[in-house]
Amino acid sequence: MMGPFSNEPMTDFSLADNRRLLESALDDIKRSYGQLYPLLIGGREIIPESMKQSINPARHGETLGIVAQADRKRAAEAVDIAAAAFERWKRVDPAARARTLYKAAALLRRRKHEFSAWLVAEAGKTWVEADVDTAEAIDFLEYYGREAERLCAPQPLVRIPGEDNEWTYVPLGVGIVIPPWNFPLAIMAGMTASAVVAGNTVVLKPASATPVIAARFVRLMHEAGLPEDVIQFVPGSGGEIGDSLIDHPLTRFVSFTGSMEVGLRIVERAARLQPGQRWIKRVIAELGGKDAIVVDRDADLVAASQGIVQSAFGYAGQKCSACSRAIIHADVYDEVTERVTALTRRLTIGDPALYGTDVGPVIDRAAYNKIRQYVTAGKQQGRLLIGGGMDDGAGYFVEPTIIADVDSQATLAQDEIFGPVLACIRADDFGHALAIANDTPYGLTGSVYSNRRERLELARDLFHVGNLYFNRKCTGALVGVHPFGGFNLSGTDSKAGGPDYLIQFMQGKVVSERM
Ligand code: SER
Repeated sequence: MMGPFSNEPMTDFSLADNRRLLESALDDIKRSYGQLYPLLIGGREIIPESMKQSINPARHGETLGIVAQADRKRAAEAVDIAAAAFERWKRVDPAARARTLYKAAALLRRRKHEFSAWLVAEAGKTWVEADVDTAEAIDFLEYYGREAERLCAPQPLVRIPGEDNEWTYVPLGVGIVIPPWNFPLAIMAGMTASAVVAGNTVVLKPASATPVIAARFVRLMHEAGLPEDVIQFVPGSGGEIGDSLIDHPLTRFVSFTGSMEVGLRIVERAARLQPGQRWIKRVIAELGGKDAIVVDRDADLVAASQGIVQSAFGYAGQKCSACSRAIIHADVYDEVTERVTALTRRLTIGDPALYGTDVGPVIDRAAYNKIRQYVTAGKQQGRLLIGGGMDDGAGYFVEPTIIADVDSQATLAQDEIFGPVLACIRADDFGHALAIANDTPYGLTGSVYSNRRERLELARDLFHVGNLYFNRKCTGALVGVHPFGGFNLSGTDSKAGGPDYLIQFMQGKVVSERM
């Protein structure tokens, strides 16, 4: 029996011993740079004609791996094989399925710094952000293992005389798992492991920017004892294989985390009944955000400024939970924008492999170009306080950028940029600030800094987001502590890392016997 869930602790890099561990992991993984990562379908390694390099975003000349790219035929084959494997996997004792996750968590804990090193190299994460990502992956494995044990046991029912009634959850079938690149270990592992531990089989299409981490995680699951046909590892471009995976009549559900545009397209496609399809496909979609931190006039302005900077520029703003709007009461607007600018000036931008770097690169050229457009437009939409510089000479570096006096309807204040760009918006009063905060198509995270109880209670009632924080940053949800997911076009509010999550990959079955 496993004990109750508790969160994996972070590594204290102020200790020299811990620094040495990650430093040597960063060196060790270099020996594996340039390896080939085949498709993995039914446990068979397949090397197709088409291959793609995975590169280091901080040094785009550095190839980390050569990754096989599936075509439509292979994608369809992966779904067929997953469907055959489902017939066996769904009958495996849920406790045994959970033990696979606990074992994987133990292996990952032992190899924590190795995986964090890959996160630094492939995703451009700083040491701390990489460590958080690895710890969260361990948490998801531990948490969903326990959830499977809880939900696969008969659930409580009202009893009546003369009947034996039982209610259990059973798995759905084949799931297509399409994770994002920004938590390439944690969210990818969480989305995959949750589906699998519930008794489903999956086709994992890793994010195009971070397939090496996903491939290494799949191998770790096999080491932990997961049968090789339960996860099919099928990298490939969304344009080439995305539709065929979603349209396949044997696909039972799609678990997606990524942009609003792609998510909405998946919802639409999955809704079309295909010849031979016998169910309504379920879509679990976690999409974008345009998250705001509201600063009241009676707030701790030092704490608020720190919270804004951490939430806006942690992992170069590439989190769906990132603060991209600071909505500040007019009475304290000048002071807060000055403090936020001063704190931002102190950030170290550069190679994330170096200890002490605060802001690394953005993920790839497409992201770099998109952010550049917003920075250029943003300079017309407000007053540049700091940043605006960009350099793609060696890697894709964007300076943390703050633009003040932005209109709440400007594109800078409405579109998800997914980069280190913060818009500051002046609010006439607290009610006005909340109205601005709610006035985007999204509803993922938000924070309020205030020392007045009635203001916090007003925000509790009116601030319409899935994850609302008071007097703290709006990033960094912890598994089991802050179930995570958003309202409106931020997604289906799946609440990853919470007690409602696993049920989405299962269906309830009631058996009633007259005695
Ligand atoms: N769960 C992450 C956070 O809270 C975002 O995906 O920052």
